Amino acid sequence: NRVIGIMGAMPEEIEGVVALLSNCTQTTIGKRTYFSGQINEIETVVVFSRWGKVAAATTVTTLIHKFNITELLFTGVAGAINAELKIGDIVLGKRLIQHDMDARPLMPRFEIPLLSKTYLETDVSYLSIASNAIKALLETKSLHTVIGEQDLIEFNISQPRLFVGDIASGDQFFSKNEQKQHLISQLPNILCVEMEGAAVAQVCYEYKIPFSIIRTISDVADDHAHLDFPSFIKKISSTYAAQIIKNIFSAI
Ligand code: ADE
Repeated sequence: NRVIGIMGAMPEEIEGVVALLSNCTQTTIGKRTYFSGQINEIETVVVFSRWGKVAAATTVTTLIHKFNITELLFTGVAGAINAELKIGDIVLGKRLIQHDMDARPLMPRFEIPLLSKTYLETDVSYLSIASNAIKALLETKSLHTVIGEQDLIEFNISQPRLFVGDIASGDQFFSKNEQKQHLISQLPNILCVEMEGAAVAQVCYEYKIPFSIIRTISDVADDHAHLDFPSFIKKISSTYAAQIIKNIFSAI
């Protein structure tokens, strides 16, 4: 029986998705509220985890054990690391890495102890479904209509693009150029940084649950990040998440 788990890290990142649920019921476990219902007749459970790797890992574990999810979608925001990315662009994680994992000299830098893995990979069939759905969303320009002129201008969003590649996660908010440059010097291929994706990916890998990590760029992880991030969260992130999830559900 198919049950899709949908996670975000903040209330604003899931409220638009919760609104898509029919027959919605709530369950509270361990300070998290799980919203169950159906989207397009598919059983779905939506939750926000709070920030960081521990919060995300325990929440996805609860989704697996208590709600019997068979697949997991994560939507949220991220700070851009690659210079080509702009606020409003969407990143689909191909590989996830925990940038703060460092058990040297016992293990190589970034390797997850006893898993013999540095990168956690997204299921390929899931990746193509999600990327086609997001490309379709961006091509129809329907995002523009729901976001509205004023916010598009404020965030300087003209034609958002989809990028597919590596995402780094760790228990750090990037708000200094030096943090960003340091990450680039260690991991030059990273597209964006956030605080949950690679933790969710690790748990899903361990339980053999196909997953997809989808991030909208809310800031460019620089000295302005502490201003851009809350403003994007407040005004736009829920709309992005709901539109992305709607399009993915039409494709599955
Ligand atoms: N999520 C969104 N912006 C971020 C940043 N600058 N650092 C870490 N996580 C983020």
